[in-house]
Amino acid sequence: MIGLAIAWRAAQRGMKVTLLEREDFGAGTSRVAAGMIAPISEARPTEQPLLRFALASSRAYPEFVAEVAEASGRDPGYLATGTLAVARDRDEAEALERELAMRQSLGLPVRRRLASEARTLEPGLAPALRLALEISDDHAIDPRMLVPALAAAAERAGVELRVGAAAQALSVTGRRVDGVVLAGGERVAAEQVLIAAGVWSGQLRGVPEEAQVPLRPVKGQIMRLHDPAGAGLLTRALRIPGAYIVPRGDGRYVLGATVEERGFDTTVTAGPLFELLRDAIELLPGLSELVLDELIAGLRPTTPDNAPMIGPGALAGLQWATGHYRHGILLAPATAELAVRCLLGEEPPPALSPARFASVAVSC
Ligand code: GLY
Repeated sequence: MIGLAIAWRAAQRGMKVTLLEREDFGAGTSRVAAGMIAPISEARPTEQPLLRFALASSRAYPEFVAEVAEASGRDPGYLATGTLAVARDRDEAEALERELAMRQSLGLPVRRRLASEARTLEPGLAPALRLALEISDDHAIDPRMLVPALAAAAERAGVELRVGAAAQALSVTGRRVDGVVLAGGERVAAEQVLIAAGVWSGQLRGVPEEAQVPLRPVKGQIMRLHDPAGAGLLTRALRIPGAYIVPRGDGRYVLGATVEERGFDTTVTAGPLFELLRDAIELLPGLSELVLDELIAGLRPTTPDNAPMIGPGALAGLQWATGHYRHGILLAPATAELAVRCLLGEEPPPALSPARFASVAVSC
């Protein structure tokens, strides 16, 4: 998702772009992502530069998807759902009150809703509900619709799309990057190489130790379901402690997600998925009638401070756009804009620059 968005925007700015994809577009984390565009729900008081970037990206989304739709002739799957965060008991209600106060102190638009009001908004919610927050500006998109639409837009803008082309090593002469070597040995020459390979970004050979960026995988297990009766069980994205449910507007739903530190493990396990289902069904009982379509796990590319790394790396010609953690889909429009400015020679904000991690000395 991130690589495609950047490639598209870079081609629009007149650059000659080749995009190397080792499998198929969106085959990694983008395929697993629920697609929440939720900067306000995900806001943390300690991550304000990230919040500002996320709010800008969220505001850019309607125009971004309209442009993708126009350029590709495809529906990118954007849905202005709004979001409801709910609490089941007194402890959760107190936690929600604190969340409300924190968001209000940051000037974010959040509305406190009594349980009865929340059930009027979403009649499928259980009577067990204690309190809710309405976050009308947090929405969702279906990444499995957006990714092919972006690929079509990128191709029409002149990007050379190479699927099944696994970048194996960076080609470096002196201290300057001059291309990429593919698994089969072919060398693709380039003035600049931008690595946007999610959590696998650190696996390209030939990047000297001091130019590496700190990344680790954080596993998320998720399930996809559909309602044979069609849409209507839930219209807003729903957040409960430890879980969320994202409606696609047509009777399909995504229930996620675990947050697990298990290295590069994408196995699907019974216990965490049972807990997600148990908690979600307690608040949305109708979920138990849904058909289970898919259980899947993905790997969030995570940095030490949870913010992405966008911009120049420690070799001339090397650029990064990775480390988007929980927010890759949300941050794609703003990342693409910033990454293209960096490719043209601008510096990123320090809080998003790869150089904030000591070992990465930026070299334009
Ligand atoms: N963006 C939600 C998640 O990573 O689970």
